[in-house]
Amino acid sequence: MKNILITGSTDGIGKSAAIELAKDGHSVILHGRDPQKLSDTTEELRKTAKEGSIMGIVADFSDLRSVTEMAHKLKDEVPVIDVVINNAGIFKSWESLNNNGLDIRYVVNYLSPFLLTNELIPLLKKADSPRIINVSSAAQSSINYEVFTGKKIESEGESYAQSKLALTMWSFRLAKKHRDLSVLAVNPGSLLNTKMVKEAYGTYWSSADKGSSILYDLAVSEKYDGITGKYFDNDKGSFGQAHADAYDDSKIDKLVIETTRLLSSYT
Ligand SMILES: NC(=O)c1ccc[n+]([C@@H]2O[C@H](COP(=O)([O-])OP(=O)(O)OC[C@H]3O[C@@H](n4cnc5c(N)ncnc54)[C@H](OP(=O)(O)O)[C@@H]3O)[C@@H](O)[C@H]2O)c1
Repeated sequence: MKNILITGSTDGIGKSAAIELAKDGHSVILHGRDPQKLSDTTEELRKTAKEGSIMGIVADFSDLRSVTEMAHKLKDEVPVIDVVINNAGIFKSWESLNNNGLDIRYVVNYLSPFLLTNELIPLLKKADSPRIINVSSAAQSSINYEVFTGKKIESEGESYAQSKLALTMWSFRLAKKHRDLSVLAVNPGSLLNTKMVKEAYGTYWSSADKGSSILYDLAVSEKYDGITGKYFDNDKGSFGQAHADAYDDSKIDKLVIETTRLLSSYT
């Protein structure tokens, strides 16, 4: 049985995947930004969980210091992590920028998972066959560094798509850098029936289960043993092609340099 961290697991496909993993006996570390919602979700899972433990951890992913604190707490309290599912994400938001003046969608959807995962790599490396699942999207758009650094405000759809391409580009770099980790990016399916999609579009194409099932499978199914550095496109139900920039090493070099520079200023 695995020890699995799922970010953004108080709602949507992250919560559904957490429920299924807990029912199958895996130990699940739930994460949420709202302490009450997290505590309610933790209680709910404990009622259905098999032998695995259920732990909850709070962090607001729009606040990079909160993510650093979360990583430190996990390193203090958890001996090993087999799987990290970087699922927390936002599309609509009242604010365009976070408390550091950075684009909020880049912070929640890309910088926070980048920061958290890099902190947790020592715990992942203690596992037998560690996996990192980065929840991307079919919406991917080339990075504009003025948006990335908060100097220019874009539409929510455009900054969301840029943040999801950044997450995908970094996934491929992480896979190359750490050959002993399996790193996959996944589009869980477009317009799944979740809070995010209801708020953004008011309509949906598919059930949320379509997305949670693929997260479950990519996290624990033997079918995906040893596969790394790829993009699973759940609109097609198979591995597929991400945006062209995700295969461009010079663009990824620039992204990693700029990311490291931003994080060193704000953490
Ligand atoms: N639904 C789709 O069609 C679709 C398509 C492609 C990709 N995705 C991706 O799938 C992932 C899950 O989305 P979903 O559709 O399940 O949406 P959702 O129901 O809105 O769930 C998003 C999760 O992220 C959490 N979250 C949002 N902002 C956060 C913050 N600042 N700090 C910490 N956690 C935060 C939410 O917490 P709360 O519970 O507190 O709101 C929630 O648990 C996202 O990365 C999304 O981009 C979804």
